[in-house]
Amino acid sequence: MEQQLCRVGFAFCGSFCTYSKAMEALERVKARFGDVTCVVSETSAACDTRFGNAHDFMREMERICDRRVIDTMLKAEPIGPKKLFDVLVICPCTGNTLGKLAAGITDSTVTLAAKAHLRNSRPLVIAISTNDGLASSAKSIGTLLDKKHVYFVPFRQDDPGEKPTSLVSDFSLVPDAISAALAQRQLQPLLLGPDAAGS
Ligand SMILES: Cc1cc2nc3c(=O)[nH]c(=O)nc-3n(C[C@H](O)[C@H](O)[C@H](O)COP(=O)(O)O)c2cc1C
Repeated sequence: MEQQLCRVGFAFCGSFCTYSKAMEALERVKARFGDVTCVVSETSAACDTRFGNAHDFMREMERICDRRVIDTMLKAEPIGPKKLFDVLVICPCTGNTLGKLAAGITDSTVTLAAKAHLRNSRPLVIAISTNDGLASSAKSIGTLLDKKHVYFVPFRQDDPGEKPTSLVSDFSLVPDAISAALAQRQLQPLLLGPDAAGS
């Protein structure tokens, strides 16, 4: 797919097991859209986990994007008044952030970035990763599916046997979901079947 230059915000929440795939998605988004700035939630910025060190991830985000990471609410606030992004993607989006977005709560860097961005009637694209997608987060997803300017990266049950309520977006579809959202379209099919590659 050819380049489609625009300004993308790429926000990370604390679904740490998906970070290596999210970083691959970030590289592809950078290659397609050119101008990308990362935003991290407080959890993402603070937690060193078995999946990697927070500081190393943020350094890698800055290397890929050649821009400083937005890592505080203070730095996120100008996203609205300065119209910093044409589109904002949250990848990965946790159950916690889904719940806040659905309820209109904006007490974190990522949720404030989303609120600031949505006030400009510009698209927000959500790539979910949560073990309770078909349990307590189901109502948040339902609420957001019905919200203007909000789009989803197509998702599936990633492990119906072991994690029957878990839902995960296919992060390889993030660039296409962004292109569709920029055209005010939800990338279809929204609901994916089992992943033959098991990813
Ligand atoms: C190692 C680790 C992995 C986690 N994975 C997930 C996940 O895949 N999905 C999710 O919704 N929450 C996950 N969490 C929990 C979130 O990090 C937690 O709910 C946090 O409050 C999210 O904050 P945020 O949404 O502001 O990033 C994980 C936590 C840890 C420590």
